[in-house]
Amino acid sequence: MDTIGVIGAGQMGAGIAQVAAQAGYRVLLSDVSRDVADKGKTGVAKRLARAVEKEQIAAADRDAALDRIEAVDSLAAMAEAALVIEAATEREAVKRAIFAEVAKALGPDAILATNTSSIPITRLAQATPDPARFMGVHFFNPVPVMKPIELIRGLATSDATVARVEAFARSLGKTVVHANDAPGFVVNRVLLPMLNEAIFALGEGVANVRDIDAGVSLGLNHPMGPLTLADFIGLDTCLEILRVMQEGTGDPKFRPAPLLVKYVEAGWLGRKTGRGFYDYAGAEPVPTR
Ligand code: 3HC
Repeated sequence: MDTIGVIGAGQMGAGIAQVAAQAGYRVLLSDVSRDVADKGKTGVAKRLARAVEKEQIAAADRDAALDRIEAVDSLAAMAEAALVIEAATEREAVKRAIFAEVAKALGPDAILATNTSSIPITRLAQATPDPARFMGVHFFNPVPVMKPIELIRGLATSDATVARVEAFARSLGKTVVHANDAPGFVVNRVLLPMLNEAIFALGEGVANVRDIDAGVSLGLNHPMGPLTLADFIGLDTCLEILRVMQEGTGDPKFRPAPLLVKYVEAGWLGRKTGRGFYDYAGAEPVPTR
């Protein structure tokens, strides 16, 4: 498996491209346009430059990794990839359209994987050319830093597909976690209720933003408080995952906190929009409640 394809050059896709290139793979990186794919590659270049400054990697290794990433114009280029990872927007219609397009190029033995954080793999498989060669490969943000990769097989995923993707994940130096195709898989199933509860607590006036984050982060030894983490993930993404879990299980314990719904309706989506539970306009994030 020398060449892999990554569809989506945003935070997740660019991170996946970076770790794959650093592990020695040639990476074809695509997005809605060549321009957007190029921007994803520029972001990788900046992160690798910082790693050189910190003397974590040699300049020659940075150059070699960047040379292995090729921003491409269209999904037709994915014909050369043995594994294609879709890391586009977390909307089912978008993913289905991508699968239809990439199906025209995908090689007869090539594997298609999705980095979805919550959409059922078995259902998505129906939109792919061969459900036996399709599965979930869930990376965590920031990809270069976070250790695990969750592997999720759909009902029709073959053992050979799981074995090849597992070997790829291990070759990136990541720890593989297997999860069944249940709403939220493992990590988000456990994480999202915690973030949601922090937002309920904020909405009910149990404590303010700073105290919830400081208490949980220091009290549980988590690197970020739950409200900081929700802002980091994106409040729209948090809401979407909670809704998938609520609908998928029928269990009201996953109902989204009203304050989370309000923030998303207000367009306060966290770091990416400059405001969520914190205001990111200044040098340091400022709590908003
Ligand atoms: N990309 C690449 N590297 C990054 C990065 C990024 N966006 N942000 C930080 N880093 C690296 C830094 O370069 C630094 O590397 P070094 O130690 O080798 O020099 C290291 O991470 C630590 O960074 P900082 O010192 O700047 O900052 P922190 O110590 O505060 O760490 C953090 C930042 C790694 C983001 C840490 O706060 C953390 O681990 N937070 C929790 C993240 C988390 O829980 N992620 C999972 C989200 S859930 C998910 O992704 C699933 C999805 O489906 C919702």
